[in-house]
Amino acid sequence: MSVAVYPGSFDPVTLGHYDIIKRSAKMFDHVIIGVLNNTSKTPLFSLEERVNMLKDTVSDLDNVSVESFNGLLVDFVRQKNTNIIIRGLRALTDFDLEMQMAQSNRMVAPDVDTVFLSTSLEYSYLSSSVVKEYARYDVDLNEFVPKCVVSKLLDKMK
Ligand code: PNS
Repeated sequence: MSVAVYPGSFDPVTLGHYDIIKRSAKMFDHVIIGVLNNTSKTPLFSLEERVNMLKDTVSDLDNVSVESFNGLLVDFVRQKNTNIIIRGLRALTDFDLEMQMAQSNRMVAPDVDTVFLSTSLEYSYLSSSVVKEYARYDVDLNEFVPKCVVSKLLDKMK
């Protein structure tokens, strides 16, 4: 069975993430979304909130599950008995950081490969940060995040 891990902060999950999730779910038998419990960043949403929003978002996809992880991504990937990481690539600006992460992961775990999917054009410039910025103003968020995230974002901004 082919299993892949799609890791990220998902603060919050966007339609760009969802697009990558749906496409990877067609490529692999099982996709595990790994939500980083990042102690060095202060996310807008708690780990539990981020995991729950993702679970809601992917409830229609049978072969996708959501888990959180601490520490190194490659350790989480190995725990899940796979060696495949999925990442979405938006514009050229992502490339440097993504290459650095993929190469760093391979330095400590040469058997672990990162598969890059190019983001669909309409989400090329979409990010969780942009969405959080828009949520502070009167912008319709339905074009950017899954329905279940819209009200949660607006509540947070009150
Ligand atoms: O959504 P993000 O914030 O771009 O995701 C980044 C993530 C979670 C993939 C990355 O920060 C990560 O893998 N963190 C875990 C710690 C780790 O393994 N670091 C070494 C690779 S740089």
